[in-house]
Formats: sequence, C-alpha cells, structure tokens
Amino acid sequence: MSSIAGAPGRAPVLVGDGFLPVELAESMRRDVEAHFAAPSAHRPDTHQVWNYWFVPELYTYLRTSPEKVIHRDRVKSFIEALGGWSLAVLGMGRVTWPYLSLYVGGCRQGWHNDSGNGRFAYVYSLTKNDRRTVGGETLVLREDDPFRSNLARPTAGRGLYEMIEPRFNRLVVFDDRLPHAVERVDGAMDPVEGRFVLHGHLSEAGPVVSGALPANATLEPIVAALRACFTEASATAALYNGPLVLHLSIDPAGSVKNCAVLLDRVMHRDPGEAGWDILRARLVARLGELKFPHAEGETVVLLPVMFNALPTS
Ligand SMILES: [Fe+2]
Repeated sequence: MSSIAGAPGRAPVLVGDGFLPVELAESMRRDVEAHFAAPSAHRPDTHQVWNYWFVPELYTYLRTSPEKVIHRDRVKSFIEALGGWSLAVLGMGRVTWPYLSLYVGGCRQGWHNDSGNGRFAYVYSLTKNDRRTVGGETLVLREDDPFRSNLARPTAGRGLYEMIEPRFNRLVVFDDRLPHAVERVDGAMDPVEGRFVLHGHLSEAGPVVSGALPANATLEPIVAALRACFTEASATAALYNGPLVLHLSIDPAGSVKNCAVLLDRVMHRDPGEAGWDILRARLVARLGELKFPHAEGETVVLLPVMFNALPTS
C-alpha cells in the first residue's frame, strides 16, 4: 500500500494495487461477469437482487449483498485478507461485511462523510481496467482547508481532492471523516463495463495481546495508566477526535522494550493546535515506564486509544 499525502501512520488515504492474489480477484470478477451473461436465462430469484439506491443529491447507484453475485467463500477470503491487513497496518480489527455496488451510466455519489460509520472506509475494485465507460473515480477531499490554503493560488479538481481510479484489484482506504464522493460514470450501458466495488468500513476491535503474558494481567496496568493520563489532561484530551494505535513490546523481564505509534489520526478542530504532540509523547512515556510480571518470553500489545470529542456548533 502506498500512502497519499501523509507520513506512514498519519496518511488520510492509502492505495494498494494487486491487493488480493490475482487468482482470487479474477475468480470474483468471473462471478460478476457470469451473473450478467445470458440475460434471457435470468430468473427472479437469482437476478432480481439489485437495490437501486437513490438518495436525492447524494447516492445514485445499484447495490447488493455480494454473496448474491460472487461465491460466498471468495467474499469471505476477501474479508479475511482485509481484516489481517487492517489489524497489522491500522490496528483496526473490525471489518464490516461489504456491499457490492455497481455504477452504470449516470451513477455517482455526492459529497458526504461517514463519521458515524467507522474509522476508515474501504473500497476494493473489481472494475475492468479496460472499460467502455469514464468516471467512477473515488474523490477524497484533502485535509488542508481548501479555502485558506489556496488564497492566492488558482486551483481546481485534483488540487482540492484526491482522485483515485477504480483499477482492478485495487484497495483504497481513507479516513471516514474526510468528505468524499464518486465521480459520475458515463458511457456504455452494459453493466460489465461499469464500476464494481466491494466497500464498507474498518474500526477498532479493542486491544490485542499476544505472547507470553496473560491478556487480562497485561491490560490492567495499561488501562490504569491510560486513565491516569486522561484524568490529568481531561480538558485537553476532550478536544481531540480520532484513533491513536500504539504497539508495545514487553520483554521477558517485564519492561517495555518499545512503545511505538502504529497509527495516529487524532485531529483537533484547529489545524494549528500544537498540544497534541505533547499529550501523545506523555502517553507514550507513561506506558513505556510500566512494569509487568516476568514471563517466559516477549509479549506484544496492540492498543487502540480512541478520542471522541463531541461536535460543537
Ligand atoms: Fe461514503
């Protein structure tokens, strides 16, 4: 995966080509094409499965549960691969079962965010690379203020948002709080020429402890340290929103060998606010000083910490 516009662990958008083993991606694509083949043989139970999802000013596309079109085992393999990647890279262990969406001519999504739906959105494309349609790009607004950051500089389109083509076997993951849209598709009306994507959301599934120490005994002092830190900085901490994921390695003697930041998507309403780095450093230092019981070997803790500032208006 490569990150767009951000350091590793801070990137608002990640794009990965060749995400699934090619045989699996191609077999999913074959299922899609087989579904639309031989139209005269279509039956109500197998083909009247598409929900024309129309929400004025927002959504215009067709969606279904993927297992109605793609073999369920393949969808499960996709979810397993995505879940493993999501936990390792983002520390997000929860993956929603996807929708399969189809965009033919005229289909699009208007600008919106999904702040209430998850931490990250995922969009995995089964669209043909060589297609007789245009459009269907995922558009994700840049993090900087599009007005204030371009006061004296003419800009348009990609100067304001990321524009990611729905390439075959490409995974796109972006912060659910960022406004996003889908460029309108135009061209051939044959559905196999349209934009096909599996999409859903990723979120945290709690801490994961692996290795020699028992999970409960390991988490107790960690939770106490987090509580203490939040109590000391309660007024400041309440102003932040988003996930911080820490990766702790504990050596057999019970000392924290390393406390690294795996993911930091914590935001403040004011982009110039400078207090976050200080609070994060304090949190990391506090956890780094913890002492655990001796154990036979090393223990690793993946620790998602959520900041949930309430919106004010
Ligand atoms: Fe969305």
